[in-house]
Amino acid sequence: MSKDLHTGFDETQYPHINQGLAGIVAFSTTKSFIDGAVGELIYAGYNIDTLAENATFEEVCFLLWNDRLPNAEELESLNKSLISERELPSPVIDYIKSTDKSAEPMAVLRTAVSMLADTDPTKGKFDEALFMDQAISITAKIPTIIAAFDRSRKGKDIVAPLSSGSTAFNFLYMLNGEEPGTQAEKTMDLCLILHAEHGMNASTFTARTVCATMSDIYSSVTAAIGALKGPLHGGANTAVMNTLLELEAEGKDADAVAFTKAKLAKKEKIMGFGHRVYKTFDPRGRHLQKMSEALSKETGHEELYKWSMDMLNTMKSEKNIDPNVDFFSASVYYSIGIQPDLYTCIFTMSRISGWTGHFMEQAANNRLIRPRALYVGEKNLPWTPVEER
Ligand code: CMC
Repeated sequence: MSKDLHTGFDETQYPHINQGLAGIVAFSTTKSFIDGAVGELIYAGYNIDTLAENATFEEVCFLLWNDRLPNAEELESLNKSLISERELPSPVIDYIKSTDKSAEPMAVLRTAVSMLADTDPTKGKFDEALFMDQAISITAKIPTIIAAFDRSRKGKDIVAPLSSGSTAFNFLYMLNGEEPGTQAEKTMDLCLILHAEHGMNASTFTARTVCATMSDIYSSVTAAIGALKGPLHGGANTAVMNTLLELEAEGKDADAVAFTKAKLAKKEKIMGFGHRVYKTFDPRGRHLQKMSEALSKETGHEELYKWSMDMLNTMKSEKNIDPNVDFFSASVYYSIGIQPDLYTCIFTMSRISGWTGHFMEQAANNRLIRPRALYVGEKNLPWTPVEER
């Protein structure tokens, strides 16, 4: 019997494994609160509905980094800092230009963020005095990386960032090479607000785990991007759009109800549905649903919204499962002309604020994150020489 001296944990007798760490409370946090039963989400004291109606993404960044809203002067100062940090170091631009057209956008983003560590004069030193500036710098550069990659892979000139305007405005400008309209900017800004923070999701847990080893903020964000990329997490929004495009390929009269039932009959998961914490409609999804409905009408893609609602109703009646944030965000991004394989990158552009907020929170009260596993293999087997195996 091997008892842990500190906890009394007995590796041979441990009674219960929480698969996927479900229900385990690993930290206390001031960053966000989720009530999965009623569908409530709060960022540092403010309900997501209040923020969606009133805030800008930059105010949400400040909130997640400081646990309070900025005054006018502080907001202006943050805006200035974000703007001044938008440009990419030349090795990162060279890397982006060197990538293959078929490269996965999230893989390029992951590598480019990792490269930023090399060009930071502090070399990503683990020092609390540096974290805020590093968070601002990475947050400012992610949109530039995404837009530069998308233009480069399409054989277009990379558009330099503006020295004014919001994160949303500048991103759409760099992506399309022309200034966005007020509605497109507002839509993008709201999407950034809605995706900024969400408790102990897989990528935020990853970011905190890396932070807890006292590695650097770039490593933490790079690892978080890797976690977000998966289809069970942030990758779901691209997968949702691919599903809607499958329906589109069947023609405008495609039957989304039959399509969903057929997938369920094959035990396939329907992307954009289900959640570990929410057992009701995701509160972010309600805002995105409204946007999706309005935009699909405006852009003459009403069938996208109809199919989405048919899928939603089928999932409710067949499985009693509700949509998550990724479901309606897909058709929203599509309606404002963004290519589906960039959707998870846009999620990253927003969630960076939550990741870095958690990084700073973890660093301020750090302890190595090191759970245990129940060993279920054999022990002390006799050695067999290779030629006898
Ligand atoms: N389609 C069909 N069945 C589902 C779905 C779905 N999307 N989600 C859950 N279920 C079923 C699942 O098959 C299982 O049924 P049974 O008990 O009969 O085997 C039951 O519901 C519980 O599912 P689970 O996968 O064990 O639940 P989980 O808490 O481990 O996983 C989840 C949560 C989000 C990974 C899962 O719901 C899922 O795979 N959804 C699709 C991917 C997705 O949309 N991900 C985005 C998550 S939210 C935002 C984000 O993080 O980006």
